[in-house]
Amino acid sequence: TWRLGDFADETIERIREQVGDNRVICGLSGGVDSSVVAALLSRAIGSQLSCILVDNGLLRKDEARLVVQEFSGHFKSDLHVVEAEDRFLDKLAGIVDPQEKRRRIGHEFIACFKEEADKITGAKYLAQGTLYPDVIESGASADGPADTIKLHHNVGGLPEELGFDLIEPLRDLFKDEVRQLGLQLGLPEEIVWRHPFPGPGLAVRCLGEVTRDKLAMLREADAIVVGEIKAEGLYRSTSQSFAVLLPVQSVGVMGDSRTYDNAICVRSVNTDDFMTADWSHLPHELLSRIATRIINEVKGVNRVVYDISSKPPATIEWE
Ligand code: XMP
Repeated sequence: TWRLGDFADETIERIREQVGDNRVICGLSGGVDSSVVAALLSRAIGSQLSCILVDNGLLRKDEARLVVQEFSGHFKSDLHVVEAEDRFLDKLAGIVDPQEKRRRIGHEFIACFKEEADKITGAKYLAQGTLYPDVIESGASADGPADTIKLHHNVGGLPEELGFDLIEPLRDLFKDEVRQLGLQLGLPEEIVWRHPFPGPGLAVRCLGEVTRDKLAMLREADAIVVGEIKAEGLYRSTSQSFAVLLPVQSVGVMGDSRTYDNAICVRSVNTDDFMTADWSHLPHELLSRIATRIINEVKGVNRVVYDISSKPPATIEWE
């Protein structure tokens, strides 16, 4: 649209003026907002931008790889990937309480980010993908709606801790505008249309204690859910679709023997604002394909259920 057309050019110009010849750090998460911020900054100041991706081991399948690939293909900026899976999993060992998981992940994220940022000399600014709804919500949260109920992984504390000045080029935009801007800036559809993903990632979809093995199962099951929904052409008409690994085992049969294995819950919702949501009325054939594939392909899973609760009273995530 005309408005966004001007927006990109004007924003790039404004960033150049503001930044001068200083260095800017930008955190990448794999999501659309941080990708669009990085794309804008990269256009505006190229080699003066350093991006940091903290791979916390809680990302979706291939997510970190996709970001790195996209980044090296299109951006002329510097990318630091922090391989921190072990650190995060150590911090999560034995923890079952959802809020405590979020708290630990948030702290570890800030620690990792800070350590990496300290290696980047001469940085004066931190760029963040704050959107208009975040600004009007509470001003503090990077995540919006559920903030009062679920303690969010919140990078709002970062700039103060690091002593940087903030650059928030998306502050006036809504999500759909950010997506249009992303397309305009040449980001691939796979990133632009990606469903939102919580900061604590798969940790809050791996109910109970988070372990490497459980994450591996969940990641595979999730890729099947998303892959099948995309193949059916329904990815863009659903708002968030994913798998949850339930903390229960149940009995099944496989050939001649009895199994006692894990259950995966498929969750898909439609929503405008994530404050309220309806479960997606997915075609039964699609659900059937998803269930069959998960049970056949994900070792350790013998049962798949579909979540038909709306928000409220349920929430979108299970933790
Ligand atoms: P709920 O589960 O509260 O989620 O209905 C509403 C939206 O918020 C996302 N969500 C989070 N995002 N950190 C985030 O960055 C979190 O801790 C978190 N918890 C929930 C959720 O994915 C949905 O889009």
